[in-house]
Amino acid sequence: MAPEFAKRLDAIPGYVAGSPAGKAPESLAGEGIAQLASNESPFGPHDAVTEAIARAARAVNRYPDPSGSLLRRRIAERHEVSPADVALANGSCEILLAAAMALGEPGAEIAFGWPSFSMYPYLAPLSGAREIRVPLGEGWVHDLDAIATEVTAATRLVLICNPNNPTSTHLPAERIGEFCERVPGHVTVLVDEAYIEFQTADDPDATLDLRKSFPNLVCLRTFSKVYGLAGMRVGYAIGPPDFRAAVDAVRQPFSVNALAQAAGAEAIRHQDDVMRRVEHTIIERVMVEEGLRSLGLETPASQTNFSWVSLGDRDEAEIVAALAEQGILVRPGAPLGGPGQIRVTYGTPSDNQRFLAALERLL
Ligand SMILES: Cc1ncc(COP(=O)(O)O)c(C=O)c1O
Repeated sequence: MAPEFAKRLDAIPGYVAGSPAGKAPESLAGEGIAQLASNESPFGPHDAVTEAIARAARAVNRYPDPSGSLLRRRIAERHEVSPADVALANGSCEILLAAAMALGEPGAEIAFGWPSFSMYPYLAPLSGAREIRVPLGEGWVHDLDAIATEVTAATRLVLICNPNNPTSTHLPAERIGEFCERVPGHVTVLVDEAYIEFQTADDPDATLDLRKSFPNLVCLRTFSKVYGLAGMRVGYAIGPPDFRAAVDAVRQPFSVNALAQAAGAEAIRHQDDVMRRVEHTIIERVMVEEGLRSLGLETPASQTNFSWVSLGDRDEAEIVAALAEQGILVRPGAPLGGPGQIRVTYGTPSDNQRFLAALERLL
C-alpha cells in the first residue's frame, strides 16, 4: 500500500523553476544560455562578499548563530530600525511560508492580489486558511480598494507585492498607507518588497516609515535580487517583534546558514554597489522597453528588473519554446496567472540585445 500524504498537498501548486533542472548556473552561462527567467541579477556578488563567504566557510564545522545577530544588527543599522524588529530567513520565501504557518489556520483568511508572486498560492493550503484572490486592476496594478473590501474579521494576512511580480507595476507608499488606514489592526499587512530597490517613484524605505503609524505592517526584503545573492538564500522581514517571534517559533532554529549570514552582513554594507546595480538595471530597462514597444508589444512601465510583455494573440508557449531553442530562457505567463504574456528579466546588455533580436525574428 502506498503511503498516505496530507490532503492539503493536493491544493499546493508546486514550483516550476525558470532554469533547466540538473544544470549548475555556471555551466549554463558557459553554454551561452541567457537566463532571463528568474529575476536574478546578471552579476555575481561584490568581491568583499565572496571573501566574507570564504572566511565563513572555514568555520562551517560549527552551527550558525541561531539569532543571526550580526546580520540583524547590520540590517537594523541600514534601515534605522531596532534589531528586535528584524526577522531573518532562508530566503524571503521562508518568511512567507512561516508567516502562513504562524497566522493561518482553518477559519482564517489570507488575501492577495492576482497575478502576483507564485508562492502566495501555497500559503492558504499549507496553513489550512481560506485563500482570497483579488484580481489586479487596470494596467496590471494592485486594486487596493477591492482588497480592502475583502478584509473580514477572519482575515489574518494580506500580501501586497510591491513592485509586483510578475507584472512589474508599482504603487506609491502613500497608497499602501491609505490601505493600512482601512485595515483593522488584527490583520498583518505584509508588503513584499523583493524588487523595491529598482523602483524610481519613491524612497525605497518609504514603506518602512509607515510602520510608525501602522504596527501591523511588515516589510519583506531579500538579498536575492539587487544584491546578487539568490543562490545564498537569505531574506528578512522588518515588522513588530511579535511577528519575528511567531515566524521563529514555526521554523527550525538554524534556518539561515553561516555562509548566508556572512554574505548578507557584508553585502548590506556596500550600498554604493547597490546603486551601481540599480543604475545598470534602469539603463537596460529603458533599452528593453523601447525595443519591445518598437516591436508593437504592450508592456506596463516597469519598476523592477523585468518586463511583463503582452504577446497579443500569438501563442505564448510557442514563443517561449522558440526562444529557449536559441538559448534564451524567459517565463511563460500562463503559470504566473497571465496567459498570453511572457516575463523577461533584464540580463547583461548582450543578453538583452540577443533577446530583442530573437523576438523580432520570431514575430
Ligand atoms: C515578489 C517576490 N518575493 C519573494 C521572492 C523570494 O525571494 P527569496 O529568494 O528571498 O526567497 C521572490 C523571488 O522571485 C519574489 O519575486
